[in-house]
Amino acid sequence: MRIIHWLFVVSVALFISGIAFVIAGARSARQAPAVTAAPIELTPVASVKQIMKGIVGPAATVVFDSVSTTVTKNGTEEKAPHTAEEWEALGDTAAALIESGNLLLMGNRAVDKGDWVKFTQEQTEASKKLLKATQEKSPNGVLEAGEKLNESCDNCHGKYKRGG
Ligand code: HEC
Repeated sequence: MRIIHWLFVVSVALFISGIAFVIAGARSARQAPAVTAAPIELTPVASVKQIMKGIVGPAATVVFDSVSTTVTKNGTEEKAPHTAEEWEALGDTAAALIESGNLLLMGNRAVDKGDWVKFTQEQTEASKKLLKATQEKSPNGVLEAGEKLNESCDNCHGKYKRGG
């Protein structure tokens, strides 16, 4: 009688744990679609130096050279984009600078969560102003945004770039 009683207890226990397994299985089955919908895993590859020399530096040079006034003995020469294509091209450069801000904050590129983020945001904000100026075809707007952009480079290099 006693043996039968214990067998009963054991079979009840097995039955309950069986139900627990079924519930756990159903739960993980329900979670499965969420896993496939997870964001694409991004793997940063380039170093900060490569991003600077490959994207940020060349783009900034284009910006700084895009609008200028040169005074010579032959007169004043105003340089600025003129055609719609030239303005669009400068806007594309601004877009590259905006996106490079995202790259600077990806993975372990962000050295800290303080000034690194702040200086990157300064660069992004200046680049957004620049993009707007190209859409408004405003040489003055480009000059103003360019000045802010230049400050953001200097601010970050002052703190984080080895050797100035
Ligand atoms: C958030 C910080 C940050 C911002 C903003 C930033 N830089 Fe840099 N930059 C760095 C760091 C850090 C290095 C040094 C990388 C290294 O040597 O490993 C660097 C290096 C460079 C280099 C390479 C210099 C060399 O030959 O070693 C160039 C060119 C450069 N930056 C241009 C710019 C320009 C132009 C801007 C502004 C439009 C800018 N950077 C904005 C952090 C920044």
